[in-house]
Amino acid sequence: MKHHCEYSLFALVCLALPVFAQANPPQSGRDFQGKETRALEADEFANPGMLWVEQGAKLWREARGAAGKSCADCHGDAKQSMRGVAASYPKADANGIPPGRRVLSLDQRINACVESRQAARAFAWESRELLSLSAFISHQSKGLPIKVDITGSAAAAYARGKALYFQRIGQMNLACTHCHDQNWGKTLLAEPVSQGQPDGWPAYRLEWQTLGSLQRRLRACFFGVRAEQPAFGSDDLVALELYLAKRAEGLPIAAPGVRR
Ligand code: HEC
Ligand code: HEC
Repeated sequence: MKHHCEYSLFALVCLALPVFAQANPPQSGRDFQGKETRALEADEFANPGMLWVEQGAKLWREARGAAGKSCADCHGDAKQSMRGVAASYPKADANGIPPGRRVLSLDQRINACVESRQAARAFAWESRELLSLSAFISHQSKGLPIKVDITGSAAAAYARGKALYFQRIGQMNLACTHCHDQNWGKTLLAEPVSQGQPDGWPAYRLEWQTLGSLQRRLRACFFGVRAEQPAFGSDDLVALELYLAKRAEGLPIAAPGVRR
């Protein structure tokens, strides 16, 4: 296995030399999946990610912290109040609680309300609850184009994400751009490489047998090039999410996606 891996990655490094392709216009990772996986994503009844969306809807209505308020008590019908929200994240949280100038991912923004408005304990990264709420909220933006603000207090995070995207990392000494700009459409370890777009996330990954966040997917890419994985919620991963969202602008949200 290891041998096969190194051989294939070596082939990829060779392919990475000529720079020709850009991820413009952006194209969903869905298009790089097999026929059956695409069919699974498209069918709302068969899409396994919809189980998380349903559970998120229940939490939205029913979960109350010490403050005794559900998300719905404050935000009402998510179909209206959360429409378009996921398409605008990560976002600078200028008037949030705690008030600050930090850029938050959607998961962090959800937990900010859980902690501050519900007086409950923040949900753990990749917990059933957090994934359910983020899948539910993301689903309210389905079909809406990704559009993020990278001005003002988000400018620094965007610059950081962009720099990381082009920085060679790990034992493989590859940057995100080598795979997702220069080699999309090619095959790595029998897997077609996509443009690395965020529109389908959180997504149900067959290999994981569960739903996972975009940050979990990004960490898998770090692992793939034998680089140290940034922690969930780290500024690096949020910055990368912001760069990816800007790069994906115009692509409609398609969460929950299904991936191999
Ligand atoms: C050695 C090649 C390689 C490198 C380098 C790499 N990735 Fe990936 N990435 C993959 C493969 C393979 C997949 C799974 C198939 C696909 O969707 O491309 C993937 C998937 C993704 C996805 C999910 C796309 C989807 O629609 O499901 C995103 C987003 C992503 N990568 C972003 C990144 C970022 C950001 C970096 C840099 C930190 C990075 N990748 C580095 C190979 C790579
Ligand atoms: C006590 C009222 C209250 C409760 C309960 C509450 N929120 Fe909020 N939430 C707010 C307010 C107020 C804002 C606006 C934040 C701001 O700009 O300061 C907000 C903002 C948000 C945002 C960002 C919206 C955007 O446009 O960027 C999300 C997402 C969110 N809440 C999700 C949730 C979820 C999920 C729950 C339940 C787990 C929840 N909220 C519970 C009051 C509440």
